[in-house]
Amino acid sequence: MTAQVIDGKAFAADVRARVAAHVARLGEEQGIVPGLAVVLVGEDPASQVYVRNKGVQTREAGMASFEHKLPAETAEADLLALIAELNADPKVHGILVQLPLPAHMNADLVINAIDPAKDVDGFHISNVGLLGTGQKAMVPCTPLGCLMMLRAHHGSLSGLSAVVVGRSNIVGKPMAQLLLGDSCTVTIAHSRTRDLAAVCRGADILVAAVGRPEMITADMVKPGATVIDVGINRIERDGKARLVGDVDYAGVSAVAGAITPVPGGVGPMTIACLLANTLTACCRANG
Ligand code: GUN
Repeated sequence: MTAQVIDGKAFAADVRARVAAHVARLGEEQGIVPGLAVVLVGEDPASQVYVRNKGVQTREAGMASFEHKLPAETAEADLLALIAELNADPKVHGILVQLPLPAHMNADLVINAIDPAKDVDGFHISNVGLLGTGQKAMVPCTPLGCLMMLRAHHGSLSGLSAVVVGRSNIVGKPMAQLLLGDSCTVTIAHSRTRDLAAVCRGADILVAAVGRPEMITADMVKPGATVIDVGINRIERDGKARLVGDVDYAGVSAVAGAITPVPGGVGPMTIACLLANTLTACCRANG
């Protein structure tokens, strides 16, 4: 079997086009421009690339982009003061503080200082609680993008067995909540899981979000399963820098029914969902 490739790039382009069309309508009919503020503390190179891409795509969708770049040694109180300003600014509908933060900052404290209605990352404890209890929440962008692709591929997910490998607050846990919300039978596996291969082989839907290059191999995948690869790992092979996922793409493609590539799978969907969340926050703010 050769797995069908789930084209996240095309999917994301479609989501962005729909967001842009809605943004244009909002502007024409109500004179409203959704605004996204992105805060970057420090000079982490990967974070700088992500933040730049977010700004470009926000503007391309017709939204206002506000970028705040602070030095790594910024005091936590100064970051909290900036967040308070953004919370109060009616032009700002979404706020994203790029993670990781420098070690001297308490990320939980910072995230929970964001107005939950503007928390387009869905990381605020209120949104985590709302998602966990099946109420209207801001949903974290990466798992939301995965869910959209899974729904498009399968139609209904009801009754399917889903295994999420990875238990992070950003991806693993919210992904599991979303799959449960769509009536999957959900298992969260992690580094201490016994016989991980056997657990993974039980999955109709396998989501890999561990941050370990190519650790999901063909022997861990049920024939015909749908495999979603959240990993973005920079490695060197044959003297060349490469980007690979958490899934051994060549091997697993021969077994799975469908698979997301890296790059061009989950990655583009994450920013597209950030734009969608910003639009959602703006619409909710304006009744
Ligand atoms: N760093 C890596 N992924 C993310 C994300 O989804 N949101 C934020 N704020 N920071 C990140």
